[in-house]
Amino acid sequence: MSVGKKFKIASIGAGNVGSSVAQYCAELDLGDVVITDILEGLPQGKALDLTEAGPIRGYSSQVTGSNDYADIAGADVIVISAGLARKPGMTRLDLLEKNGRIISGICENIVKYAPDSIVIVVSNPVDTMVYLAFKKLGFPAERVIGMAGCLDSARMRSFVAMELGVSLKSVNTMVLGSHGDDMVPLPHYTTVSGIPITKLMPQDRIDAIVDRTRKGGAEIVQLLKTGSAFYAPGASAVRMVQSILRDEKQLLPCCAHLTGQYGLEDIYMGVPCVIGKDGVESILELEISDADRESLHNSAKEVQSGINGLREAGIL
Ligand code: 2OP
Repeated sequence: MSVGKKFKIASIGAGNVGSSVAQYCAELDLGDVVITDILEGLPQGKALDLTEAGPIRGYSSQVTGSNDYADIAGADVIVISAGLARKPGMTRLDLLEKNGRIISGICENIVKYAPDSIVIVVSNPVDTMVYLAFKKLGFPAERVIGMAGCLDSARMRSFVAMELGVSLKSVNTMVLGSHGDDMVPLPHYTTVSGIPITKLMPQDRIDAIVDRTRKGGAEIVQLLKTGSAFYAPGASAVRMVQSILRDEKQLLPCCAHLTGQYGLEDIYMGVPCVIGKDGVESILELEISDADRESLHNSAKEVQSGINGLREAGIL
């Protein structure tokens, strides 16, 4: 990836997450954006709408829409949000088989048209889908990343800020594990301007925030009734895109391929990663309590059962 060139971002899936990704990328002028989808007119319509917002919002990114994967050619970063989203009562695992087939097809096209890209998977169940993408793409693991931890930790940041009546900006959090009910929010690594929240609120309030974070996606699904969250998921994916394209080396919780870290092998799981121009440039192994380690391993079991499900369905 040479410095100074105009970057290209492909957002695969023109649903709410895919178009939020395109919007935030354009607003940050990260590069030109192509939105693709199998539905005719949808990516073109969203792209034209975003182009027409450009003169007002003051961005110069070109946003185009396409039904042809050939148009992702040369993309530096690809965000996959295609697939079905959760409806009320559905778990992320319910989406496994349908989205597995969709992601497999997309990966074939990425290999064909954008073999040098860095791929960020958002589609659910994300820890399993990103593992599938890693296997199907055959790219080095640092170039295949799942988006979950950024979203879960942004949710936790919001809940801490609401609880304490402080600015969202002064809160930092870390959430590990899978993007499901077994995710592992870490209150000991959650701070307000450097002060651990364990010093700022009683344990029952911390427990409530941890619980709300775990159920953060379902809370939005229940409110919206017809779909799932998209502003925060889109913004979280773009935070990763930005750190890659600007080589910011932000330390972000991302779903990365583990090769022994935290005692886990050949699985994708949310862990703190340094994200830069090469993708996942390093993985940080935090000191965590025995209870959190146990939750992390429970989380891994959930992901592994998804991977086994894909194998049983003949997708992996
Ligand atoms: C969420 O947590 C869509 O999984 C995503 O809202």
